[in-house]
Amino acid sequence: TTSKLYRIAVYGGDGIGADVTREALRLLNAVAQRHAFQLVLTELDWGIDHYRRTGVVVPENFLEILRPHDAILLGAVGWPAELPDHATLAPLVRIRQAFDQYACVRPAWLLPGVPCVLTGKSAGDIDLVVIRENSEGEYVDQGGWLHRGTDREVAIQTAVHSRRGVARILRYAFELARKRKQKLTMATKSNAQRYAYVLWDNLLDEIAPEYPDVASERQHCDALLMNLVRWPERFDVIVASNLFGDLLTDLAGQLAGGLGLAPSTNTNPERNFPSMFEPVHGSAPDIAGKGIANPTAAILSAAMMLEHLGEVAAARMIEQSIASTLAAGHRTRDLGGTLSTIEFTDRVLEHL
Ligand code: NAI
Ligand code: MG
Repeated sequence: TTSKLYRIAVYGGDGIGADVTREALRLLNAVAQRHAFQLVLTELDWGIDHYRRTGVVVPENFLEILRPHDAILLGAVGWPAELPDHATLAPLVRIRQAFDQYACVRPAWLLPGVPCVLTGKSAGDIDLVVIRENSEGEYVDQGGWLHRGTDREVAIQTAVHSRRGVARILRYAFELARKRKQKLTMATKSNAQRYAYVLWDNLLDEIAPEYPDVASERQHCDALLMNLVRWPERFDVIVASNLFGDLLTDLAGQLAGGLGLAPSTNTNPERNFPSMFEPVHGSAPDIAGKGIANPTAAILSAAMMLEHLGEVAAARMIEQSIASTLAAGHRTRDLGGTLSTIEFTDRVLEHL
């Protein structure tokens, strides 16, 4: 018998990143057996330990090492007590850009058994996905200083919004909305940003007719943030620039139970390069080494990886298992429970 085989680069990273990734791998191995596919893992010892041994966080040829894989599973990086964040996070930014992972997909799904910060909202009221443009916009690292360090200093930070870049993320979001609840909301700010967001508005008008089955609208990002708090049930797919998507996903993630639960992708939809799957959270130095991190965000990110690889049934199996585990009241400390990282994963494995 032939069984499908996927090559996965595993970059657990620093702090709780390595711990939660280990738990995600337990789930992946369990569903691989049941769905008759095989995972070939390349476990990468990159991050702060690598830096201590060699003086660099990742080897010089890290992109070539990652390139032949079908996907990258990332925990988290960052150990600010020893190395500034821009040094540890720089390789991540390189990966996203070099592998053209322009679609950052962040679902916010309030599950039964998860406390919500909003009063009167319960499971089912929040089931949305934010698509964040991940390759350009406000985070392109273009700018400079004038008269630096003097009382006349000037900082210039340039944003880049290209027709190609905006159009492709809009189409990606429309395609997803088509498969979900046929509703798309675009974050704009064309009332104050008269060039960049007018381009976004124009492209939405131009592309919407290609998707007559999807109801699309735009909202200024400030109002959108407010509406997410008062009417989260009205949203399905939200598409936003890099900066706005960054803001929207922290809020949406918190509405759905917080960082311990929030998964994310960095997707290259054309599949010319491996995509990368990671929890939204960081390395959490404050709880690192204590064995209490919530592994759910990492496990759900692994499920999104399986979906990307075409193993949709296995992905759904993991998601349902997480949902029934939480619904049964099993919780880690961030959700008010007492279970350790490993104990919670044990429960999830039992619910498969
Ligand atoms: P963080 O996400 O690591 O932690 C924020 C707070 O949430 C902490 O109190 C932490 O204990 C809690 N938390 C996070 N994940 C949790 C989980 N799975 N279970 C239970 N509690 C959880 O953000 P912070 O503290 O701002 O950054 C720490 C380091 O992580 C920094 O070096 C930062 O640069 C890095 N970072 C890395 C990211 C990545 O690898 N993509 C993303 C965000 C931050
Ligand atoms: Mg952020």
